[in-house]
Amino acid sequence: MDPSTDTASADAVAQRLLGAVLGHVDLMSTFLGDRLGWYRSLADDGPATPPQLAERTGTDARYAREWLEQQAVTGLLHLDSDGAADERVFSIPPATAEVLTDQHSLNYLAPISRLFGAVGPALPRLLEAYRTGDGVSWDELGDDAREGQADANRPWFEHRLADALAGVEDVHGLLARPGVRVLDVGFGGGWSSIALARAYPAATVDGIDIDEPSVSMATENARAAGVADRVRFSHGDAADLPADRYDAAFAFECVHDMPRPVEVLTAVRKSLRPGAPLIVMDEAVADSFAADGDEVERLMYGYSVFICLPDGRSSQPSVATGTVMRPSRLHEYAEAAGFGEFEVLPITDFSFFRFYRLR
Ligand SMILES: C[S@@+](CC[C@H](N)C(=O)[O-])C[C@H]1O[C@@H](n2cnc3c(N)ncnc32)[C@H](O)[C@@H]1O
Repeated sequence: MDPSTDTASADAVAQRLLGAVLGHVDLMSTFLGDRLGWYRSLADDGPATPPQLAERTGTDARYAREWLEQQAVTGLLHLDSDGAADERVFSIPPATAEVLTDQHSLNYLAPISRLFGAVGPALPRLLEAYRTGDGVSWDELGDDAREGQADANRPWFEHRLADALAGVEDVHGLLARPGVRVLDVGFGGGWSSIALARAYPAATVDGIDIDEPSVSMATENARAAGVADRVRFSHGDAADLPADRYDAAFAFECVHDMPRPVEVLTAVRKSLRPGAPLIVMDEAVADSFAADGDEVERLMYGYSVFICLPDGRSSQPSVATGTVMRPSRLHEYAEAAGFGEFEVLPITDFSFFRFYRLR
């Protein structure tokens, strides 16, 4: 039996949880190194002693020393030369630099430490919500969650979305038409809209998101990416979308967060031309619950327990979906929203996601 699931002895359970404690410490220490600019400084400006790193980043030398030693002990940083505590020189190996500082890499994981880091300050509210059935909103989790989410999906949209869509012939053909109008629901950091605009130069993309700070973040991202003339982001509940004539709509990793997804899906359907598709990207979880779920299930339940289910319950009434939205659940929502066709698209190897087409 896999030792991580062996619950036959107290020793095995204790070992397993001790491993989890070490993982937690790694994640929280990467949160510090990411947010304080320590990894970035080591990657961009080279190896440093604790006082040098503190000086470069405007941080405290004693804390920098403790963190550098912890990072070397845990194996994420390298001790280049030993000596007195403040004279030790530490460097960042290329692999660590890629995973923790390269925001274009598919291996970029610093954003996940931000997502779970955002949970820390919310724990008292989460405890209260777990007692009362109340929620903790995306807005309450703040910029760490907002930016962590945006940056976690960004490389996938940048590097893989165009190819993934190009592999679905009719969707690709539709998006490549001159003057095509696309809707992006729940755009977050806007990287999906930016990727769509880049892949399809004749397209205009309208995004709508209920989280106001996301609108500013995405607008700035689109401006910096040079696509602001074809990508417009607005603030609002997608359930209130006016009837329109979009040629295609997308909902990237957001349907499971919505308290009332059927209202949103209905509004999106009405905003589409007859027969036009809504592509939903959501978690590639198993078809049904099983207690011996794989690592994707474990991770998605982790997001659900701390982030998505409380967010989805922060506005009432709520269907309380949670991150682990099974395909059958989305199918029910799609039918209730009046979509007649529901299929899984042949897009694989796209992070933790599955793509659905609703028509
Ligand atoms: C998990 S984030 C995903 C963001 C982005 N699509 C991505 O893939 O990174 C979910 C987003 O959906 C937005 N959202 C949730 N409910 C919404 C609604 N009813 N209307 C519009 N946006 C909504 C949230 O504000 C948030 O930005």
